Amino acid sequence: MKVSINQANRLKESYGNWVIITGATSGIGRELALKFAEAGFKLVMTGRREKELEQLSTQLFDSYQTETIPIAGDLSKMEDINTLLKETDHLSIGVVVLNAGFGTSGKFMNADINQEVNMLELNCKSVMVMSHHFANKMRTQPKKGALVFMSSIVAFQGVPNAANYAATKAYVQSLGEALARELKPEGIDVLTAAPGPVASGFAERADMIMDMTMKPEAVGVPIINAIGRKSTLLPGFLTKFLVYNLRITPRWGKIMIMGKVMGGFTKHQPT
Ligand SMILES: NC(=O)c1ccc[n+]([C@@H]2O[C@H](COP(=O)([O-])OP(=O)(O)OC[C@H]3O[C@@H](n4cnc5c(N)ncnc54)[C@H](OP(=O)(O)O)[C@@H]3O)[C@@H](O)[C@H]2O)c1
Repeated sequence: MKVSINQANRLKESYGNWVIITGATSGIGRELALKFAEAGFKLVMTGRREKELEQLSTQLFDSYQTETIPIAGDLSKMEDINTLLKETDHLSIGVVVLNAGFGTSGKFMNADINQEVNMLELNCKSVMVMSHHFANKMRTQPKKGALVFMSSIVAFQGVPNAANYAATKAYVQSLGEALARELKPEGIDVLTAAPGPVASGFAERADMIMDMTMKPEAVGVPIINAIGRKSTLLPGFLTKFLVYNLRITPRWGKIMIMGKVMGGFTKHQPT
């Protein structure tokens, strides 16, 4: 799947050419980088792994002559967030995709609390700080801009065995939904994308064995096409199927069902 010329032109006319993607070194972020580059955008790309970022920059230049700025850093750390904000200050940024994130799983009481706090810092604090910064920056630009938040289907109810991860995504979903309305009068669009299971680096880091996964290719272009058109997107057929089937279920029932799903994803873990 490709971003059509019409879609690419719509986005360029609305927001300009520069896109920031956090977490571009793998999975959904990498797919978004490939599709934005193919559609002729210039990219600021982040991730902790400097070598992967450089390889991706080279690949995008060789394939599409894309101008890229790779900025390696750990966005759970305030100093690395500040570096990113400083190094992009001279650019008119049109689209900011706040994608970097990770999950954990298993019983909350057995969790490594430092890792859980680190997840809050990356999934929530960095998203809050960067959306505040870039919304204020976009406000002063002639073409304004768009923010893209990366939520998840786990955001819509509590999820036993991934309690803190689901709570971080509920934060992202709620922030994105509210800002979509609040920033509209400023001319800034906000999209919150909430995918179901995607085959990426996510499952290994979260210690989940996920089934019924989609490929990142199934979610990348739908997310790009929805920017400026929707406030929440459930990308991919499987995501829509799962969420629509749970829509009429009471909240306690959703928690029970998602707990069973996550129980399956984590059944390999020692009890
Ligand atoms: N996969 C799923 O099933 C799924 C479903 C719904 C939502 N999501 C969300 O989608 C987003 C992308 O996940 P993914 O599935 O594409 O996973 P992934 O393949 O593991 O990619 C995660 C990206 O985030 C970056 N990242 C991780 N920790 C970081 C840190 N401390 N500082 C800076 N960058 C960091 C990683 O780069 P480095 O390793 O180079 O730092 C990588 O580029 C996440 O927010 C995730 O919660 C995933």
